[in-house]
Amino acid sequence: YTVDWDASAAEKGGWDSFMDKEIHEDPAAVQRTLLGRFDERGDITLDEVRIDDHDFKSIDKIIVIACGTAAYAGQVAKYAIEHWVRVPVEVELAHEFRYRDPILTPRTLVVAISQSGETMDTLMALRHAREQGSKVLAICNTQGASIPRESDAVLYTHAGPEVAVASTKAFVAQVTASYLLGLYLAQVKGAMFRDEIRQILDALKDMPAKIQWILDTQMTAVHEAAADMVDAHSFLFLGRHVGYPVAMEGALKLKEIAYTFTEGFAAGELKHGPIALVDEGEPVVFIVPPSHGRDVLHAKVLSGIEEVKARGAYIIAVAERGDKDVERYADVVFWRPECPTLLSPLVDVVPLQIFAMDMAKLKGYDVDKPRNLAKSVTVE
Ligand code: G6P
Repeated sequence: YTVDWDASAAEKGGWDSFMDKEIHEDPAAVQRTLLGRFDERGDITLDEVRIDDHDFKSIDKIIVIACGTAAYAGQVAKYAIEHWVRVPVEVELAHEFRYRDPILTPRTLVVAISQSGETMDTLMALRHAREQGSKVLAICNTQGASIPRESDAVLYTHAGPEVAVASTKAFVAQVTASYLLGLYLAQVKGAMFRDEIRQILDALKDMPAKIQWILDTQMTAVHEAAADMVDAHSFLFLGRHVGYPVAMEGALKLKEIAYTFTEGFAAGELKHGPIALVDEGEPVVFIVPPSHGRDVLHAKVLSGIEEVKARGAYIIAVAERGDKDVERYADVVFWRPECPTLLSPLVDVVPLQIFAMDMAKLKGYDVDKPRNLAKSVTVE
């Protein structure tokens, strides 16, 4: 008699794969990243700061450098930080940034986002920025890795170790940390009232429960959509505003683990070219902005949905609970609970992570170790 005990199965905590386990840790990753970062008054603190307040106050430009999923977290950061802090934010792939002679001054804050903290492209870009006299702040998931070690300030994401090659919980943690950084800068620069900052922090505290709601209630719809579309040769992912980086990230997940040819782009571009790709049965995923508040964008994304629907597309929508317009056109809807638009990427990305994983599993692929990819790319 032998006990069949597999160490790796134990590490997966009862889940089929690390990816499964890690997606289900999305709520905890957000919660742990928020934990202990601010007090009841809404005062935010970073982990390691070797930049003084005077330098922070003088920052007149932010450049986010990252690769892959971390770069999409950076794009979300741009929308939030520019809106809250009123400082221009550029987001650039680290490998492009490094070799194009970027404009860097002591008043530029470079934010390096990296799960592993060892991505060579990001590390080289960081070194270049510091050589030019700019300050670098790292958002990283790995204590003591090269990127945080070589930075002037660090904000750790407490997602916990991520094993699956395709990044999931680290993404939501990076987005959360970016919000904290934005609010911290708003605090230091006096760009927002303390009450406004506290309100956003309160909304952030509610996000783990909202992610959990998605994991608890939306899985049937996600599994159905994956089963329906498993044979599709290509996918389009579209979004606007913060839904744009979410669309890019959803598209990347599907490429990485389901090996499906996928294009992600800004929904406003549809009419400028990509609509030519839409044919009968083509799956198109739309990230629909909340119907409250930003009505203009909601209506515009909706008209994009109508356009592709008229050409026979199969429409998957991520939309706010109760959005009747979306229900009318979409073949499947992944519902999101109500939340502020700027925070919506934290919930919207979750069904797309599950969707990619389902597609890969239905095709019989190893979701944790996709072909040709490495968890951490330590060569340029
Ligand atoms: C690799 C991984 C991606 C990851 C990217 C950046 O390409 O396969 O999942 O997003 O590197 O990694 P980092 O550790 O810097 O976040």
